[in-house]
Amino acid sequence: MRLAAQRAEVSDWVGYEVGYGVGYEVGTMSESDADGPQIIIEDLVKRFGERTVLDHINIKIDRGETLVVIGGSGAGKSTLVRHLIALERPTSGRILVDGVDMAALGDFELSRVRRRFGMVFQKYALFDSMTVYDNVAFPLREQTKMSEREIKDRVMVKLDELGVAHAAARMPAEISGGMAKRVGIARALVLEPEILIYDEPTSGLDPVTSRTVDELIEEMRERFGVTSVVITHDMASAFDIADRVAMLVRGKIAVEGPPENVMASDHEDVQRFVHSSAIDPARIAQRSARKSPAQVRALRKERLAKQGAPKV
Ligand SMILES: Nc1ncnc2c1ncn2[C@@H]1O[C@H](COP(=O)(O)OP(=O)(O)OP(=O)(O)O)[C@@H](O)[C@H]1O
Ligand SMILES: [Mg+2]
Repeated sequence: MRLAAQRAEVSDWVGYEVGYGVGYEVGTMSESDADGPQIIIEDLVKRFGERTVLDHINIKIDRGETLVVIGGSGAGKSTLVRHLIALERPTSGRILVDGVDMAALGDFELSRVRRRFGMVFQKYALFDSMTVYDNVAFPLREQTKMSEREIKDRVMVKLDELGVAHAAARMPAEISGGMAKRVGIARALVLEPEILIYDEPTSGLDPVTSRTVDELIEEMRERFGVTSVVITHDMASAFDIADRVAMLVRGKIAVEGPPENVMASDHEDVQRFVHSSAIDPARIAQRSARKSPAQVRALRKERLAKQGAPKV
């Protein structure tokens, strides 16, 4: 993506709409605790000119669930998740978030709904005129009444978790692509949003850092009951963090289900994808300690009840 387009995207998201996930507001939103799917993608079709990029997609995502989207380059993965936050509009079909049709919202309501999301962009999309520290502090300064001292504590914890605290004072142009990715993740997580979308969070990272990112995704889910949609080419990651996997092939969902079922699918494209990534089936057997989405939801309710309405 060209830099200008990238900046427009981020300023639409972070600067203008200021949509960088607001965990603080979440506790007061009773509708988001309702049972049933939190996100429903209903018969979604997206065409760019003559080209159909998404072809009648139907997916439901429960609160506290991690849906991993896999698929080859150009399959439509980024386009699909961009619809969730209305960075793209459907040609037909609907996206419902807690029953609200995203495409029908005006600017004001849209920015309110968007605040519940955090997004890690495929191309990290940092503000290049701000330091690493200021990039991560940005959503806190815009969205909360936290003091600079509190902001500093929070930002440094996130930078530290992602192993980039030493680069806090650097400008984005002075850090590597892998570091920029980690800063982008820190920025998406800093407000502890309710729904997190990660577009290739581990691409370009070394295997050790990739596993740290997986752990963070799991931690966000277990600690905060976050609903996550993760796009990845990293099959090890997909099978470690997914409650469900959906594979996109040429704009259609080819297979969808728990990772073990997807692996066992005899769909030709799925087999090729899974086998070319040499995933060890033993890894799936180790998943038994994971909490279910229902357990995660229960923990979240407990935490909100204990902590009361958070400070906005
Ligand atoms: N704004 C746009 N205008 C025209 N075509 C687009 C636009 N955005 C995406 N496309 C096309 O839609 C198709 C799907 O793109 P998308 O970025 O969703 O793929 P992807 O699955 O995320 O691929 P990758 O793994 O390479 O990131 C591609 O053919 C792309 O060229
Ligand atoms: Mg993509």
